[in-house]
Amino acid sequence: MITTKSETTLLAGVIGNPINHSKSPLLHNFWLKNHAIKGYYVPVNVEPKNLSKAIEAFILLGFRGVNVTIPHKTTILSLVDTVTDRASVIGAANTLYFNSAGKVTADNTDGYGFIKNLTYFSDWKPDTGPAVVFGAGGAAKAVLHSLLAEGVSSVRLLNRTKIKAKMLAENFGNKVEVYDWYASDEALKGAALVVNTTSLGMRNQPELKPNLSNVMSNALITDLVYNPLETKFLESAKAQKLKTVDGLGMLIFQAEQGFTNWYGCKPEISDSLKNLLVQND
Ligand code: ATR
Repeated sequence: MITTKSETTLLAGVIGNPINHSKSPLLHNFWLKNHAIKGYYVPVNVEPKNLSKAIEAFILLGFRGVNVTIPHKTTILSLVDTVTDRASVIGAANTLYFNSAGKVTADNTDGYGFIKNLTYFSDWKPDTGPAVVFGAGGAAKAVLHSLLAEGVSSVRLLNRTKIKAKMLAENFGNKVEVYDWYASDEALKGAALVVNTTSLGMRNQPELKPNLSNVMSNALITDLVYNPLETKFLESAKAQKLKTVDGLGMLIFQAEQGFTNWYGCKPEISDSLKNLLVQND
């Protein structure tokens, strides 16, 4: 690995391919400005074949780290010096830290962002009761890991392609029970938390419309989708007087630990930041 020189202007960024849809530059540069930090956060398009060289170049240029997005989230794990436990279990990283000796640590802050969003915007507690998770993709993996790490006693998992749910559940032992996609009524009985990790409900996608009438009366309903901010799924939960948390907070909170590490300052969540992210959709 290459040794870095100390920099007065703090540098970080996000790498992906494509990269122009990423909201991370908007988010980090908002915080840099708000906290009057002398630093930059840049989006960089990195083709898969250049990933290893790109990381070395960032270190050489004095970057403190980068966020990693599609398609590098899994392949990056084999190119770094250290992988955190949570990134290892999830099998993907979204945040890299470069130390002063040029060593690279890969972390995954998605689960942290997911839990922090719930606890910041609601009174949800892990011991309230079972959680129901719709979806078995990459996001679901981070959600399952974080729920179990927080101490949720059982998770009921449903996915259109059931075999994917079964394969995902195998990583987490007997606390995760797989239900048939069409047995959501049964899965939702007595649920304390209901999470949509699928792409259903995104703009121009079909809706997720489970029957929420048998969840706990103080259940929390949350959606990882944030475009639109209020999905039909959350709208129907609200209509039934259930508590809801939208997905934008997860996007913000998954960025918090990277920002704190790179720029040495814990950023604030604010309505103006949420508005900025919504307006730029
Ligand atoms: P992410 O990394 O955001 O989780 P992903 O890995 O592509 O994205 O996962 C997308 C999830 O949305 C999957 O659970 C997918 O279900 P399948 O595994 O059956 O594909 C789910 N999903 C996407 N479109 C769906 C639809 N029309 N109906 C039900 N589930 C859908």
